[in-house]
Amino acid sequence: MPVEYYENVWHNGKFIPWEQATIHVASHVISYASCLFEGIRCYETPQGPAIFRLKDHTERLIDSCKIYRMELEYSREHLQQAMIELVRLNKARHCYIRPLALRGYGEVGVNPLGNPIEVYLLAWRWGKYLGDEALKKGVDVCVSSWQRIAPNTLPAMGKASANYMNAQLIQMEAQVNGYVEGIALDTSGHVSEGSGENIFVIRDGKIFTPPLGSSILPGVTRDTVITLARELGYTLVEQMIAREMLYIADEIFFTGTAAEITPIRSVDRIVVGGGEPGPISRRLQEKFLAIVEGRAEDKYGWLTLCDQPVAARH
Ligand SMILES: Cc1ncc(COP(=O)(O)O)c(C=O)c1O
Repeated sequence: MPVEYYENVWHNGKFIPWEQATIHVASHVISYASCLFEGIRCYETPQGPAIFRLKDHTERLIDSCKIYRMELEYSREHLQQAMIELVRLNKARHCYIRPLALRGYGEVGVNPLGNPIEVYLLAWRWGKYLGDEALKKGVDVCVSSWQRIAPNTLPAMGKASANYMNAQLIQMEAQVNGYVEGIALDTSGHVSEGSGENIFVIRDGKIFTPPLGSSILPGVTRDTVITLARELGYTLVEQMIAREMLYIADEIFFTGTAAEITPIRSVDRIVVGGGEPGPISRRLQEKFLAIVEGRAEDKYGWLTLCDQPVAARH
């Protein structure tokens, strides 16, 4: 499906047309995957477009860059302001924002330090990531034969393009075998995450999610769900999860910027609970969607309203 892009792209401090947002094929990033990136949703709300957890995503981008010794010329505040401008200039009512920080065209060896750093902010329209019915009905997934990246190989806490070669193997294997998504185990055999989603498992009313030590990306949506679940009075435990918990769980769901809160209705063809989204998943999903769509109080200051004067914004 062709991308429904927004025309204006931010590049190193200036806006350029989408068609001009190109790089040379000899750029360091092409051979060596030297790119750190983010995925951020901007929602349509009654108060205009609102970017969800802009500060947290921008901080994660800067953290990812720091791990890879990539110093950005732009402060967090500068990048945040640029993303607000991106939404405004493109007159987007809602969109998916993709910040990229990459090593560009310069030297061609593995050592990245001599290459220029290019920062891009792009936006496009993106619907429901795992299919239109996914949020309502849930998805059928498998446990992948591919494991998540091992500790001290590629850093899982950084959102680096290189990690998504692992994610592609997980995703492709799932798709060719008729599943919507794959769940990767970590190298100790415990549940890690989906190719682009964190995972939550519910049993006997308690909510479990793998800890950062299980080679997961520290998801912003994951943090959102942890906060909301505790606010709603659920017991939520971050702990290592055995694979077989997936087969005996009452409810399971994925979280992610793209996937939002997507219930899982089967794993390896074993039905989860009653085969449809369970009550805790539905309650958390409803609460999440009400906040991001501006229908419920934004008490944690998660939304940045793009059309408001600067002083009124979070
Ligand atoms: C591997 C992986 N895990 C988890 C997530 C969910 O993170 P977030 O909720 O910050 O989008 C993503 C998406 O960015 C991801 O790519």
